[in-house]
Amino acid sequence: MARGGSAVAVLSFLLGLPLLSVLVAGEDPYRFFTWNVSYGDIYPLGVKQQGILINGQFPGPQIEAVTNDNLVVNVFNKLNEPFLLSWSGLQQRRNSFEDGVAGTTCPIPPGANFTYILQAKDQIGTYFYFPSLAFHKAAGGFGGIRVLSRPRIPVPFPPPAADYTVLIGDWYKTNHTDLRYMLDSGKALGFPDGLLINGRGWNGYTFTVQPGMTYRFRITNVGLATSLNIRFQGHTMKLVEVEGSHTMQTAYSSLDVHLGQSYSVLLTADQPGFDYSIVVSTRFTTKIISTTAVLHYANSAGKAPGPLPGGPTTQIDWSLNQARSIRYYRSSVHFLFLVQIQTRTVTMKDNVT
Ligand SMILES: *[C@@H]1O[C@H](CO)[C@@H](O)[C@H](O)[C@H]1NC(C)=O
Ligand SMILES: *[C@@H]1O[C@H](CO)[C@@H](O)[C@H](O)[C@H]1NC(C)=O
Ligand SMILES: *[C@@H]1O[C@H](CO)[C@@H](O)[C@H](O)[C@H]1NC(C)=O
Repeated sequence: MARGGSAVAVLSFLLGLPLLSVLVAGEDPYRFFTWNVSYGDIYPLGVKQQGILINGQFPGPQIEAVTNDNLVVNVFNKLNEPFLLSWSGLQQRRNSFEDGVAGTTCPIPPGANFTYILQAKDQIGTYFYFPSLAFHKAAGGFGGIRVLSRPRIPVPFPPPAADYTVLIGDWYKTNHTDLRYMLDSGKALGFPDGLLINGRGWNGYTFTVQPGMTYRFRITNVGLATSLNIRFQGHTMKLVEVEGSHTMQTAYSSLDVHLGQSYSVLLTADQPGFDYSIVVSTRFTTKIISTTAVLHYANSAGKAPGPLPGGPTTQIDWSLNQARSIRYYRSSVHFLFLVQIQTRTVTMKDNVT
């Protein structure tokens, strides 16, 4: 970073362009977080469980950042086991020892703390963090990360009225130590007991929308074993981002989200004022389970009429075709750049042959 800065400074001196150094003068901002990781009672499927909370929250607090921000996260481990956090999707350039998987980063011993120093270098988009050791993820400790574009960097859609995180995942009533023991003794994980949306079971979470406005929903599958499908009753989703890349804005009536994947969709509240269901169901499983959250119009007259929207269940082709339909967003500038690169490749090949 310093080297890049001074190179630009030298360049701007040579070229007599003081403006250039003004443009790069800003230090990348720092954001500081202090997180207490502890056990606490949660009731995601109606029965009491010992969850892993961050600052008392399940799921954990959301990280909001802007491209190039430095994130300094001081994590205090108040569990009785070593704990390690991983930052899914953050690229950790020249920074792999902060990635938080066994082998790159030491776990935080019980009662100790460790400060992760991360940078969202040149990144935008939707990511998440999760505990990477000891099956802790089955008890919580995960949360959303969003990296917004810097001001003046064009985003290929107008700012949404609000930006909602939707963490979906399978859930087991068996606690993480018992699940871990099962796996260690060679048994399969078994079928999940339910699905959660933002840590809540059936109709346990509500997203409120104003009629006529457009919202961004950042959807991540934070579960352990199950691919999921999500759909909004009476609405289509316009896909705009997949894990840090803007996409061509295709409309989908339902979307498969496999483990660890993150998608951003835009949804316009253009239907009559009701409470609509957001349905999440399992994919590729013989038994299908589902859960719902509520899309609540501020002017709602009550529950929307009609059945819950159905989705694909065991069809694999459907999922592959959907994945193949997703394309990078291309502005005309981006397109010219690609043409240039391709032309250059052709020229190089000509030289070789
Ligand atoms: C973390 O816990 C300590 C006490 O153990 C408390 O003083 C501090 O305020 C907590 N921090 C947060 C961010 O919750
Ligand atoms: C632990 O927390 C203290 C108090 O915030 C801080 O000064 C120290 O640097 C932290 N230690 C590590 C290893 O991050
Ligand atoms: C998990 O449940 C078992 C009993 O089935 C109990 O012995 C163990 O302490 C529990 N672990 C946690 C972390 O709550």
